[in-house]
Amino acid sequence: MDLAVWLLGALALVLGVRWALEHARARRVLQSLRQGAPVALPARVGGNWGEAAQRIAKLLRERDERLRESQARLEEFLVALENSPNGVVLLDENGRIEWCNQTAASHFGFDAARDRLQYIGNLVRDPVFAAYMASWNYTRDVVLATPVAGSAPRKLSVQAHPYAGSRRLILSRDVTAMEQAEAMRRDFVANVSHEIRTPLTVLAGFVETLQTLPLDADERSRYLAMMSQQAQRMQTLVNDLLTLSKLEGSPPPGMGDWLPVGTLLAQSEQEARSLSGVLSPGRPHEFLFHPVPAIDVSGSLSELQSAMSNLLSNAVRYTPGGGRIEVRWQPLDGGRAEFSVKDSGPGIAAEHIARLTERFYRVDRSRSRETGGTGLGLAIVKHVVQRHGAELKIDSAPGSGSTFAIVLPASRVRPAVSPGMSERPATESQPG
Ligand SMILES: Nc1ncnc2c1ncn2[C@@H]1O[C@H](COP(=O)(O)OP(=O)(O)O)[C@@H](O)[C@H]1O
Ligand SMILES: [Mg+2]
Repeated sequence: MDLAVWLLGALALVLGVRWALEHARARRVLQSLRQGAPVALPARVGGNWGEAAQRIAKLLRERDERLRESQARLEEFLVALENSPNGVVLLDENGRIEWCNQTAASHFGFDAARDRLQYIGNLVRDPVFAAYMASWNYTRDVVLATPVAGSAPRKLSVQAHPYAGSRRLILSRDVTAMEQAEAMRRDFVANVSHEIRTPLTVLAGFVETLQTLPLDADERSRYLAMMSQQAQRMQTLVNDLLTLSKLEGSPPPGMGDWLPVGTLLAQSEQEARSLSGVLSPGRPHEFLFHPVPAIDVSGSLSELQSAMSNLLSNAVRYTPGGGRIEVRWQPLDGGRAEFSVKDSGPGIAAEHIARLTERFYRVDRSRSRETGGTGLGLAIVKHVVQRHGAELKIDSAPGSGSTFAIVLPASRVRPAVSPGMSERPATESQPG
């Protein structure tokens, strides 16, 4: 009996000690958990509580590791978005800016840091944008015109994409240049159609006249001559258009072909003289072709000839009969060379000069049409000049004539290899 009591007592004591020990361990573990840091978990606590503590510490370490990894991934994503050429804005459920990249900030005029958590509707006031955002229909983009201080407004293409319920991602793209190119293309097509329609209408009228009216031989041949003139006009237009498109679509001319400037000039001179005869038969122009220097130039023969012919034919077209036209090739300092055409015509007002090389830009529309101009001549010259690394200089004022000059860079000029070929005496002709 005594033994049984003693045994029970001993058992109770052992259990009590064990319980106290476990309790103390539990307290230590709980205490360090309350302190929060998994590293603070006692490593040397034994028993179940010790094992539990170690497992918890391991789980917490793994969780922290994963957290650090996803934080790093998030940073990488944001860096990628920051470097995107498009503007990116992330909105929360209420339409407030959670994040935006620098491009979006410059597109919309945000301050990336200060405007965080601002309602985008308060910052982008454009009613088109407000209506778009409110519609929640984002299958298409909207184009906004955003003002830019001191220049034309910028065109932004903006598209929203909902994600994660009612959050939204906004992408913005600067489409100013694209819209401009598109507008230029539309203008060009409209201009070409107009230029073709005019002679076509006249031709159709003549055809109808010939079909309906009984005409004598003289009248018939007069009508046919006028028809042929209109057909010629269309032909010239198509040729100029083809020349332009060839210039735009082909690689720039190499440096290989060297030509004496006298050879280059011969054809344009002949064309100019005969054009003068056609345009003012009674009173031809007074030409002065200066002697050509002994230099060769390199480039495309046909392109350079076409540029020179255009400048010369313009001088003939816009200078009234009897006027003076002076043509010169001359070496300049630094090894460059200049081709210039100076006329005693009406001259050009300053506001037109910068626009002369635009396609179909004409100062004197009716004079251009009457004399067979297409409005493309100086656009062709500009292309040729650019392709040869040269420069087009226009010096003109109303009442004091015009000088058009092409300056070739030194790399395209050299002393003539066969001077005999390019040396030529001055030729002068007086009005008859
Ligand atoms: N030498 C010049 N004197 C006066 N005006 C000129 C001269 N050259 C060009 N222009 C003006 O520039 C316009 C554009 O010239 P261009 O591109 O050659 O087209 P066009 O076919 O009309 O001659 C002409 O319509 C004309 O009004
Ligand atoms: Mg012309």
